[in-house]
Amino acid sequence: MSEIKRVFQVDGKPFFPLGGQVHNSSGYNLSELETAWKALEAMGANTVEIPVYWCQVEPEEGQFDFSVLDDLLQGARQHGLKLMLLWFGTWKNGQIEYTPNWVKGNPERFRRVISAAGYPLGVLSSECRTNFEADRRALSALMRAIREKDTEEKTIIAVQVENEPGILGSDRDYSAEATATFHGPVPPELASQVALHPGTPVHQAWQAAGAREAGSWPELFGPHAGEFMTAWQIAHYIDGLAAAGKAVYRVPMTINVWLGEGGRRLAGEYPSGGAVAKVLDIYKWFTPHIDIIAPDIYSASSAGYRFECEAYRRPDNPLFVPESGRAGSNARHMFYALGQYDAIGYFAFGIESMLDQEGNLRPESAPVAASFRAARLAIPLLLEHQGAGRVHAIVQEEHAAEQYLDLDGYIGVVRYLDADTPYPRGYLTPRPASREAVERARGLVIQVGPHEFYLVGGPFRVLFKRKPAPDAELTPQAAARLLAEELPDFYMVEEGYLDEDGAWRARHWRNGDEVTGGVWVDFRSELVRVVITH
Ligand code: DGJ
Repeated sequence: MSEIKRVFQVDGKPFFPLGGQVHNSSGYNLSELETAWKALEAMGANTVEIPVYWCQVEPEEGQFDFSVLDDLLQGARQHGLKLMLLWFGTWKNGQIEYTPNWVKGNPERFRRVISAAGYPLGVLSSECRTNFEADRRALSALMRAIREKDTEEKTIIAVQVENEPGILGSDRDYSAEATATFHGPVPPELASQVALHPGTPVHQAWQAAGAREAGSWPELFGPHAGEFMTAWQIAHYIDGLAAAGKAVYRVPMTINVWLGEGGRRLAGEYPSGGAVAKVLDIYKWFTPHIDIIAPDIYSASSAGYRFECEAYRRPDNPLFVPESGRAGSNARHMFYALGQYDAIGYFAFGIESMLDQEGNLRPESAPVAASFRAARLAIPLLLEHQGAGRVHAIVQEEHAAEQYLDLDGYIGVVRYLDADTPYPRGYLTPRPASREAVERARGLVIQVGPHEFYLVGGPFRVLFKRKPAPDAELTPQAAARLLAEELPDFYMVEEGYLDEDGAWRARHWRNGDEVTGGVWVDFRSELVRVVITH
């Protein structure tokens, strides 16, 4: 069993933030947020992520106005939500956009990254101390404002420092200063960490370049030198901001990542120096004031999605997903994050767009919202049972009809609903009109005791078959053999919810025909509790 680092807390207790991030410019004032509150309600959210813009809060150098924070706090509280603030400072998607005009308009003072071709990019240079100092003052002022305004309720549970930092458009800064750094010695504290960590991507790049103990960036890291140097610089820059911010007011701080490194893409096509998997170790070694490095996962493919979860779920870095798709495959894949990768929080991006003009869920977002509502029901169970192999993701991959779960003492045979499945007699949900009308199944099966399970999501049914021996092998053949046997057990099946103290509250009971052929789960049900009796 691995101990999960529960970074987010409310009233001193672990808290699982689940919800949505508003569109980029919805944080300017309260009226912009009207649609967002509706979408958050439709998702069953408990937390909202909203940006705070450097350009708004420091319109003139040194003159801060954090009145917008009153609005954000008021809005979140009125809607019973916790709030994560996203600091749009030096970097927003590897660019300069949300910096104040007095920064943008003075490139001599606030130096830009210079491209390989020699022209300035719309990106502030992390080499430039003036940039760092200006951002440090602004973020510290934000933290002071939070300390002053969020005194009692502690609505703000975390601050994301910057947004998808890195250099969009170049692997590194090619200015004279940065080029001198590039050809100067790699800091010995980095070189020694790299040598100590075989198996990491940085170590592999170092090996491939000749595994020298000391030398310049290209000498130690070959073709990756520009990106690695940038990662080192940005990691220090952001950690410096976080250190200063936390010295004013302590809340968890996070960094989010534009995952652009798949396929054949080059650093700079995604923000170079951001904490992509290749350089994640550099960040983990040198950002002690950052609590989590979090991937923005938009991958539509199941394998790609799981690859990213795998890369960011580490003993020193629990998986936290601050952005994901508001439509499509995320409705299913999010259960991989919650079940298989022990995610400690999960958000969809641009939630206003989940609703149509009338305020109803758009058809393409309705499944995502249903998945979020199902996940919300499971939060007390996630907090208690993740990390122990007891939370199982149900995800219907394309063309799949069933899934086997290796449970403690049981094999769970999960059969997805399709138009050909006979619905059990007595079960109330109407049969789907057509194959197309069937959403692909997804959800969670959580084992809380030797014979006790909670199920959520849909549409699927689970047959629990006792293992002939505790270490019985889980093969489709073994499961088929078990399924062919008479059902030896009886199920007690209830629907209900867990209250604020985690106590089970049953509202419906199922028996007789309704439990023949397995335990059905769909999005109409709340949590389904199953106890297998003898
Ligand atoms: C990731 C960024 O972090 C967000 O601010 C937003 O730009 C989305 N991409 C858009 O998909």
